[in-house]
Amino acid sequence: MEGTTPPARRGLDGVVAGQTRLSHVDGLAGQLIIGGYELTELAGRVGFEEAAHLLWRGALPGTEELEELRRDLAALRPVPAQTIRVVRAAAQAPPIDALRMACATLSLDLDAPDDISPAADIAAAKMLTARFPTLVAAHARVSAGQEPIPPRADLSRAANFLYMVHGKEPDPIAARALDTYWVTVIDHGMNASTFTSRVIASTRSDMVSAVTGAIGALKGPLHGGAPGPVLDMLTVIGSSDRAEGWVRNELAAGRRIMGFGHRVYKVRDPRAEVLSRVADEMTAAHLEDRRPFDLARAVEQTVLRVLDDVKPGRNLRTNVEFYTALVLQALGLTPRSFVAIFACGRIAGWCAHVIEQHAEDHLIRPQSEYVGRRGLKVER
Ligand code: ACO
Repeated sequence: MEGTTPPARRGLDGVVAGQTRLSHVDGLAGQLIIGGYELTELAGRVGFEEAAHLLWRGALPGTEELEELRRDLAALRPVPAQTIRVVRAAAQAPPIDALRMACATLSLDLDAPDDISPAADIAAAKMLTARFPTLVAAHARVSAGQEPIPPRADLSRAANFLYMVHGKEPDPIAARALDTYWVTVIDHGMNASTFTSRVIASTRSDMVSAVTGAIGALKGPLHGGAPGPVLDMLTVIGSSDRAEGWVRNELAAGRRIMGFGHRVYKVRDPRAEVLSRVADEMTAAHLEDRRPFDLARAVEQTVLRVLDDVKPGRNLRTNVEFYTALVLQALGLTPRSFVAIFACGRIAGWCAHVIEQHAEDHLIRPQSEYVGRRGLKVER
């Protein structure tokens, strides 16, 4: 080895890049810890605003703190006209691109956009967390040739989002399902978009810049995932009796089954566990809509059995994407917008990491292993 730098770890695999009090992923135990609580303890028992408070302030809120946070976030939902103009200009762009473009303009609406003091960071976190659903819903409307629907402050965050997309108030089960989904994806260790936000924040850059960069990282298919292909798979299979033959053919052709397997979790992903329960609740509530769920459940059981048979010892379990697809589709949301809807949950986690990184105030600046040539001379 030339020089003094140790060899690079490809993709930083196995490198511990920093400390955090926010969340921890234990892939062998199948645990996701958020601010000290296991996800399975939080999800369904605390709402999104409570989980955001936990990440931003280090503790679940008391009754008055929660009321105040809900009020603040609801008041911040409307977005400035200049931002809506960007959403309209991006009508034909993918929703996650429109969100990135619109998010970048939100610093225009801050009195001191470069202020990274704790108070300014909390203010920016509230503003971004309040407005992401408004932006995604407005884009869904304009991309379908419809007018955006202004947000309402009297609805919960999830109910308001569904109202802004569909133009009618959702039933409480649907709103609760979306709220639980957003709690479930609120933070997930040092994933690529979170790391991106921290790298940007570590230069003492501002919250809006850090979050805009994080959206760019989330957009890629290796991170934002692909719940869309799960739905494509279910459509192609069509009926449960066709599942086994289809799965065996796919595996024989060397293809992967979407919605199964995970790089970190070698046992069941706790997020899949939580969203599976959400899917059950929705099925029970909407008996007339249960066919997609019944098919998905039957396909899931067949895939797990066939994977164990064809890929023994690989521990391939249902992952979060499978249930995300089922839950978001049942809410009448289009696969195209799934990644942007995910960002509406993850935004609170990104902001928390920016707050934590600003408090740490240490530049993230790794080295690289030089593998280029040396000693060349300019010949003229
Ligand atoms: N279907 C069939 N076989 C699979 C699958 C799958 N979904 N996932 C892994 N395998 C097999 C591989 O073919 C490989 O088999 P081999 O030992 O015979 O070569 C073995 O399991 C190990 O595969 P790796 O690629 O080493 O597993 P890795 O942990 O890197 O893969 C990944 C994780 C990318 C998620 C993979 O399971 C996959 O492609 N799943 C399908 C796509 C998907 O659902 N993505 C969303 C993931 S959730 C999220 O990231 C938020």
